[in-house]
Amino acid sequence: MNYTAAESRYNTMPYRRCGRSGLKLPAVSLGLWHNFGHVDRYDNARAVVRHAFDAGITHFDLANNYGPPPGSAESVFGDILKRDFQPYRDELIISSKAGYRMGPGPYGEWGSRKNLLSSLDQSLKCLGLDYVDIFYSHRPDPDTPLEETMGALDQAVRSGRALYAGVSNYPPQMLREASAILRQLGTPCLIHQPRYNLFDRQIEGGLLDALRDEGVGCIAFSPLAQGLLTDKYLGGIPADSRAAKSVGFLTPNDVTPERLATIARLNEIAASRGQKLSQMALAWVLRHPGMTSVLIGASRVSQIDDAVGAVQRLDFNDGEYAAIEQALRG
Ligand SMILES: NC(=O)c1ccc[n+]([C@@H]2O[C@H](COP(=O)([O-])OP(=O)(O)OC[C@H]3O[C@@H](n4cnc5c(N)ncnc54)[C@H](OP(=O)(O)O)[C@@H]3O)[C@@H](O)[C@H]2O)c1
Repeated sequence: MNYTAAESRYNTMPYRRCGRSGLKLPAVSLGLWHNFGHVDRYDNARAVVRHAFDAGITHFDLANNYGPPPGSAESVFGDILKRDFQPYRDELIISSKAGYRMGPGPYGEWGSRKNLLSSLDQSLKCLGLDYVDIFYSHRPDPDTPLEETMGALDQAVRSGRALYAGVSNYPPQMLREASAILRQLGTPCLIHQPRYNLFDRQIEGGLLDALRDEGVGCIAFSPLAQGLLTDKYLGGIPADSRAAKSVGFLTPNDVTPERLATIARLNEIAASRGQKLSQMALAWVLRHPGMTSVLIGASRVSQIDDAVGAVQRLDFNDGEYAAIEQALRG
């Protein structure tokens, strides 16, 4: 059961510079929001993490509240790190976040200095680490001054508990302001983590421009729309799919006949490119010059192979772009 990482792990994965920083991230990164809690099979979680690293995925994304139960993904990942990855710590980029509800009372969520720094300490304990590589404000807080939230990120970095600071789910103007504050503090904003996929293009309306102007990298979460942008739902809702499970935010109601028709049209375009739909969906997100990485989820090892295979064909021609837009319009 001892793990030795594949010698070939750096052979095929492209690594992209994150904004104007010196840090490169793999084009495909793995998030542990689902499938890594105490409710999930530990052996499968461990196999997925090992397989990902063997394929060149050096970046693993967590948050204080991932599970279920909340917090358990960091404990599970910490255990995997201790057993398998001690020799590889310097080859890993591990992120965590605070901002969504994690604990009871007024200090268990949002963007106060109190919540961010105490949550980071808890995350480090669960992960069994001295530091995370990236620490995020998970969501904007309408009630806490931005100076306080950014000051807490700066403090996390200055105290050695994080190497870089990031924000997630911030709208364009707030990103610009957060970035200016962090720059003034001497801890530039490394990265923004927004949702982006073929079905959700909100960030095209200003955020991508703001990130370019500020020199901040971008890692897109849910690039497969939680699994909708794959061929998995074309024949109905499989019992072992995210939509069929009682936990999470994807429900059978999201798998509408209209959506399925769009997915089927996209699936045909992917096939004409010699790709699976999941691969075309990832390549489409990565086409944007400001995109550092796609942040996927995976419930099994084969999904890592699919995702990593996407980098074999990242280019699109004008006809393919037009066909995709047409398929999305219906
Ligand atoms: N910052 C934030 O607010 C925020 C919010 C959400 C997520 N995130 C981050 O983004 C990460 C990824 O989010 P996500 O899990 O929604 O990403 P996603 O890549 O859009 O969806 C992943 C799911 O799609 C299915 N899938 C993946 N590859 C497949 C394939 N080749 N064929 C068929 N099905 C496939 C699997 O679900 P099945 O269980 O159905 O197999 C998998 O768990 C999270 O882990 C987290 O780190 C951040």
